[in-house]
Amino acid sequence: MATATIHEDMKTGKPQDMTAEDTLLSIEGVTKHYNTKSTGFLALKGVDISVEKGEFLAITGESGSGKSTLLSILGGIAPPTEGRIVVDGIDIYALPIESQADFRREYIGFVFQQFHLMPYLSALENVMLPLTITKRTDSEMREMALDSLERVGLSDKAANLPSELSGGQQQRVAIARALVNAPPIILADEPTGNLDTKTGADVFDLFEGLNRAGETVIIVTHNPELSSRTGRTVRLLDGLVESDIKR
Ligand SMILES: Nc1ncnc2c1ncn2[C@@H]1O[C@H](COP(=O)(O)OP(=O)(O)O)[C@@H](O)[C@H]1O
Ligand SMILES: [Mg+2]
Repeated sequence: MATATIHEDMKTGKPQDMTAEDTLLSIEGVTKHYNTKSTGFLALKGVDISVEKGEFLAITGESGSGKSTLLSILGGIAPPTEGRIVVDGIDIYALPIESQADFRREYIGFVFQQFHLMPYLSALENVMLPLTITKRTDSEMREMALDSLERVGLSDKAANLPSELSGGQQQRVAIARALVNAPPIILADEPTGNLDTKTGADVFDLFEGLNRAGETVIIVTHNPELSSRTGRTVRLLDGLVESDIKR
């Protein structure tokens, strides 16, 4: 399993890391203060959420409530101002910077609203990108990327450029790229936000399938119909958890 490498040497073993057995990820007392030119802004005001392995969690809330901020902090992209993120026993921002990059690669697959594909690379090459800094041969990387494209039903489009794909297909390529390192956690920030209703629902089905196959999936969505299909919905309001409902 991909999770082994940084885990053993980075686990602190301190008492506060001894969370419940099924807890994969915990957000503990997280605040985020943005320094702006005029005044600062407190985007997260103290968020505590604990997520179990295999959960399918939706994060909802109005624009500006802090959803993207929370997801970036969770994914190891931006440190919180206060509090910590513990994933699989690892206090991720206590890691040295280089290990934080290893953490992201091994644990997190990130999917964005705006696909973020390289326009001059084929679907296959886009999916291979996260592998290029690992020590793998070209044929290994191709094989892994093809497997990943197959999981999203796009093996027949491997040679196509993003511009030759529909929006839904581009998002599938982005999902394949997120999956290629076999990370146990998928974070998706409004992944259906740029897609029409039907295409968005299809992409959502894909996340549902990944969750059924064992992935822990955290998805930000404005769409109540979609969020009602997850096992749990956390609603943010002005940087605080307004409700946390398990179904
Ligand atoms: N880099 C930044 N600098 C200053 N303020 C920011 C920055 N990023 C986000 N914010 C502010 O923080 C709040 C939460 O933003 P965000 O997390 O993007 O919310 P959401 O994803 O729920 O729409 C917003 O008021 C936003 O304007
Ligand atoms: Mg956002």
